[in-house]
Amino acid sequence: MPTTDITNFVQNIDVQTLWPWLLCSTIVLGVRNLFAVPRELRHLPKIPVIPTLLSYVRGEVEDQRIKRLLLPYANRGEPAVIVYALGRWIVHVMDRKIAKDLSADIETYPKEVPPDGLLLWRFVGFQNIILSNGEAWKRHSRVVKTALNRNVPVGEFASLAKKLFTQMGKGGSLHWDDLTMRYTLDAVGTTAIGHDFDAIANGNSPFVSRYNHVMESIANPAYIVMPKLEKWFPRHATIKAIDELVACFQSILAYKKENPGNDMLTYMMEEKDMTDVEFRDNMVVFFIAGHDTTAGAMSSLCYYMAKKPEIQERAREEVRRAMAKSTTGEPTMAELGQMPYLQACIRESLRVNTPITYMVPRAAGKDAVLVGANGREAFIPKDSSVILNITAIHNKDEYWSDPEEFDPERFMSMSESQEKEYDATQWLPFALGARMCPARNFAMYEQRVFAAMLLNEWEWTISPTSPHFDQIQNGFSPFALSLPKDLYLDFKPAAKKA
Ligand code: HEM
Repeated sequence: MPTTDITNFVQNIDVQTLWPWLLCSTIVLGVRNLFAVPRELRHLPKIPVIPTLLSYVRGEVEDQRIKRLLLPYANRGEPAVIVYALGRWIVHVMDRKIAKDLSADIETYPKEVPPDGLLLWRFVGFQNIILSNGEAWKRHSRVVKTALNRNVPVGEFASLAKKLFTQMGKGGSLHWDDLTMRYTLDAVGTTAIGHDFDAIANGNSPFVSRYNHVMESIANPAYIVMPKLEKWFPRHATIKAIDELVACFQSILAYKKENPGNDMLTYMMEEKDMTDVEFRDNMVVFFIAGHDTTAGAMSSLCYYMAKKPEIQERAREEVRRAMAKSTTGEPTMAELGQMPYLQACIRESLRVNTPITYMVPRAAGKDAVLVGANGREAFIPKDSSVILNITAIHNKDEYWSDPEEFDPERFMSMSESQEKEYDATQWLPFALGARMCPARNFAMYEQRVFAAMLLNEWEWTISPTSPHFDQIQNGFSPFALSLPKDLYLDFKPAAKKA
């Protein structure tokens, strides 16, 4: 076209007619750019954005999203996929060997400094064991592990279980995930942070209600998919609630300083070179990491035992055999050691409905080609965010026969070396390597004591009209937690042995 024609054409454009088109194109281009896969990740299979976003809009829970959208790729042998969440594309590893190799190299794959501005980080803080790396992490980890390893508070777990049984009265239909949450709150309160929430006796204290409110507010799906919204549309009420809650932790800490007790926080405070902010941030981590997870695990265990009464009965017989000479009804360490079937049930429930669906993102420190267990390779470029997807690995057909099935037998029939191999690769509810959960021993004993006493005292079933009857229903959670929600179980005192 000659230049004069172009000039005429431009002069004749009717802006009034065109502006809706311009606006639409700008929005489309903006959205496309927002969700565009960075060039360096384009070689990896991608979970389509629209189904992912729709899944968040529908409030689909994390474990179901993973099983529906990611697991088919894992079952096709893909070692890794990319998923859009937290405002960016993240590599999800679904292969046991790569999971093991990445976990073994914490220098190259440190925890990512969260780039997303999620309000969760305002609550948890940054100067703690969970988000630190390098020398700072080593210091936090040493202090936390020393505190956790002083003793396993088996006696406290048992007396809290008795307190809960009193609260259960004569049984009947009980809101089980609420009761397990109250139990673990008191367990972590008294043994870890030296504060009695008195949740078993009094339900939710003002402190706990405030915590629940904060977590629910933070967990807004729109803000999880697009954390930038926190910047564009700051949620002042939630920020205020978080700051008030952090101040409550601060005052528990101040009280503890004046009134040391027999709890992990007191032991931690023996460390002279830690600051108050570090104590506080670790205390928040203990509180969050220490009760939701274990409560979810105990709810799931009881759910599966309700669904399979023959398993419940076999575990009860084992517990009663091991505690035949007990006069207190509280299992000793030695008696717990004689309950391998119960241990297998706990391990299987942690596999089939793992409380943490995936780990905190790691930042890849270099370009690397990682080789999966089946020989398939995944190129993971430097600076990508990498997540180890526990749910995908726990449900992969290649690793577990009938993965949806609760079958404790799979752990009973393993040789010791096979079990070690599984624990180092494909059974990872507590993660793997140096950064695995420092409280796994604590959490396993908490479940073993509680479950042994429960089996000894109670029998329970699930009503066929329960929404959980066909499949366990977890609640929506933003932080990779997958915990049964509104699970009612029917309890009655267990028949005494003849
Ligand atoms: C069944 C119960 C539990 C499960 C399934 C569980 C699971 C996990 C997982 C998967 C991680 C690794 C997170 C990551 O690296 O991305 C972790 C870390 C951690 N957990 Fe647990 N946990 C449980 C109970 C507890 C309890 C009771 C406490 C405290 C009393 C606790 C304290 C911690 C801490 C402090 C870390 C951070 C470790 C580090 O980064 O070095 N956990 N847990």
